[in-house]
Amino acid sequence: MAQSKLVMALLVAVLAAGCCASAGAVAYLSKLPVTLDVIASPSPGQVLHAGEDVITVTWALNASRPAGDDAAYKNVKVSLCYAPASQKEREWRKTHDDLKKDKTCQFKVAQQPYAGAGGRVEYRVALDIPTATYYVRAYALDASGTQVAYGQTAPAAAFNVVSITGVTTSIKVAAGVFSTFSVVSLAFFFFIEKRKKNN
Ligand SMILES: *[C@@H]1O[C@H](CO)[C@@H](O)[C@H](O)[C@H]1NC(C)=O
Repeated sequence: MAQSKLVMALLVAVLAAGCCASAGAVAYLSKLPVTLDVIASPSPGQVLHAGEDVITVTWALNASRPAGDDAAYKNVKVSLCYAPASQKEREWRKTHDDLKKDKTCQFKVAQQPYAGAGGRVEYRVALDIPTATYYVRAYALDASGTQVAYGQTAPAAAFNVVSITGVTTSIKVAAGVFSTFSVVSLAFFFFIEKRKKNN
């Protein structure tokens, strides 16, 4: 009996810890201050090719912010975000104010420790980035990894990514088929050879 009570108590403690750890980490975009100035290298409307082209993103605390405004910033997370035109009629790219549910900025560009002088990253557009129009957002994260501020490039400065995922997928399928075929034929000829020897 005492044992089952102990188990119950442990269970309750674990559940409580789980609930409150996540409850403390909810961030809403509309409540975050816009404190980071973010610049991305593509010119407005530029077409970038996934797997080839490189973009440079720089960020810094806006000079009009009071000193110490960034005291809680521990890391900066930079992401590619779908421009509104690429979100239309696509539920899976929908914007949510609750950042745990938000699907706008799904593609991580980089995460770096925050530096008061700002930061910079060079990023080659990953092969799995879908064809769409994007802008760049940088979140300041506190020690718990929660977003506490952000900045982004102007939606008018959005750029386009052209994906070649379709090609790579068919190449992968073809490679898969041929490698399976080669294993099967190797086994087949091995079997034939063995039979010949036994006869
Ligand atoms: C800094 O913030 C102010 C006020 O939000 C804004 O008007 C200004 O454009 C920002 N500076 C830069 C370099 O983005």
